[in-house]
Amino acid sequence: MSKIVTITDNTSGKSVACPVYEGTHGEPVFDCQGVAKELGMFTYDPAFMTTASCKSAVTFIDGDKGILLHRGYPIEQLAEHSNYLEVCYLLLNGELPTAQQFEDFSYGIRRVSVLHESLLAFYNGFQQNAHPMAMLVGVVGGLSSYYHEEMDIYNPDHRMMCAMRLIGKMPTIAAKSFRYLLGRPHVYPQHQFSYVENFFNMMFWLPNREFEMNPIAVRALEIMLILHADHEQNASTSTVRLAGSSQANPYACIAAGIATLWGPAHGGANEAVVKMLKEIGKVENIPTFLENVKNKKARLMGFGHRVYKNFDPRATIIRKICHELLDELKAESHQPMFEIAMKLEEIALKEDYFIERKLYPNVDFYSGIILSALGIPTSMFTVMFAVARTAGWIAQWKEMVEDPSMKIGRPRQLYTGHANRNFIQIKDR
Ligand code: SDX
Repeated sequence: MSKIVTITDNTSGKSVACPVYEGTHGEPVFDCQGVAKELGMFTYDPAFMTTASCKSAVTFIDGDKGILLHRGYPIEQLAEHSNYLEVCYLLLNGELPTAQQFEDFSYGIRRVSVLHESLLAFYNGFQQNAHPMAMLVGVVGGLSSYYHEEMDIYNPDHRMMCAMRLIGKMPTIAAKSFRYLLGRPHVYPQHQFSYVENFFNMMFWLPNREFEMNPIAVRALEIMLILHADHEQNASTSTVRLAGSSQANPYACIAAGIATLWGPAHGGANEAVVKMLKEIGKVENIPTFLENVKNKKARLMGFGHRVYKNFDPRATIIRKICHELLDELKAESHQPMFEIAMKLEEIALKEDYFIERKLYPNVDFYSGIILSALGIPTSMFTVMFAVARTAGWIAQWKEMVEDPSMKIGRPRQLYTGHANRNFIQIKDR
C-alpha cells in the first residue's frame, strides 16, 4: 500500500492526500502540490528549512551521521583515492571514468582551459583593488557573450561542452583575477601540467624566479577542490537551479551561483574564519571571544551548518591535511593560527552553548588556514571554493535540464502588506 500523508483543514473539514516518496537514502518526502488546489492554501517554509526542491541523484548528505556521498561514493574515499577532474567526470556522468574516458575528458578540459583573448580585456575594467569574487562574477557572466554556436541547453553535446568550458576555464579566470590584483602578466595553461598543477602555475609563476611545483601543496589543493565540489541543494546550487529553470544559459546561471556563494553565511565563511582567528590573536583570548559569541555579539565562523548536526566530514579531512601541510611546508608562520583554531574547536565542542545547538566545525573552519599556507591570499579563498563548486553547480544544472518535467521555479508568498487603498495626489499628502 503506497504511503500517504493527509493534510486536513480543520476549518473547512477538507482534506488532501499527499503521496509519500522514498529516496535511496534520507528522509522521505510528501508531495504537497495538491494543497493549493484542494485547500486553497500554500505551504509556508521560509529559507526552505524543510522543503525538498527537487529529486537528485548527484550528492547525498546525512547531517546526523556526518555522511557525504557523491553518486554513492563516500567523500573520504574520493579524497583519498581520486582527483578533482575524476570527481568532475563522476558528478557529470554518474559513474567513475575508465582510463580511456578519463584521458579523453582530461584532454577535453585542457583544450578549453585557455580564455578568448578579448575576455582578458574584461579585467581592465576593474579597479586594481577589486575583490576577485567581483571579477569572477563579471567574467564568468561575460562568457555568455561567447560560444553562441554551442549554447542550446536542450542539446546534450552543447550541455557537456558548456560544462567542460566552465570547468576548464574557471582556474584560468581565477588565476587571472589574482594576478590582475598584483599587476602580474597573464599566464596561460600549459599542456604538460595536470589541472591543479596548471592552477598553481597560473597563480604563482613569475618570469624572474624559479617556480617549484610542490607535490604536497598540489595534493592538498587537489583534495580541497574535491571536498568542495558539490553539496546537495545549498544556497548557491539552488540559485543555479532556479536561474537554469528559466532556461537561462549555463554561464549566466553559474555567475548567479558565484554571487550567492560570496556571502559570509555560505562560501564567504572561509575568509571570515581567518579574519576571526586573526582578531582573536592568541589562545588566551578564546574564552572572551566565546563569551561574545554566546552573548550574540559575534559568530563562531566556520561552525554550524543547516544540514550537518554532527561533524562535517569534510572538516575532519581538511583538519588532517592542515596538520600534514603545515608540518611539510614548515609553515611556522601559520602554526599560531592553526593552534588557535584547534584550541577554539576543543573548547567550543565542550561548551553547552554549542552542544545544545549542535554546532560543529564545517568545511570552512580549517580550509582558510590551508589556503593561506599555500600562499593564497584571503580575498581569493571564496574564489577557490567557487572553482571547486563549479563542477557541482553544472552537474546539478545538467541533471535539472535533462529532467523532462523541468518547469520554471516560481515560489509563492504570504502577503502581509496593505489592503486596497486609493492613490493620493502629492498636494494632498
Ligand atoms: C557552507 O548548505 C551548505 O551545504 C553550505 C556548504 C556547502 O558546501 O555548500 O556546506 C558551505 O556554507 C558552510 C557554512 C559556512 N558558514 C559559516 O560557517 C558561517 C557561520 N555559521 C552560521 O552562520 C550558521 O551556522 C549557518 C548559516 C551555517 C547555518 O545557520 P542555520 O541553520 O540557519 O542556523 P541558525 O542561524 O538558525 O542558528 C540556530 C542557532 C541560533 O541560536 P539561537 O537563536 O537558537 O539562540 O545556532 C546559533 C544561532 O545563533 N548559531 C551560531 C552559529 N551558527 C548558528 N552561533 C554562533 N556561531 C555560529 N556559527
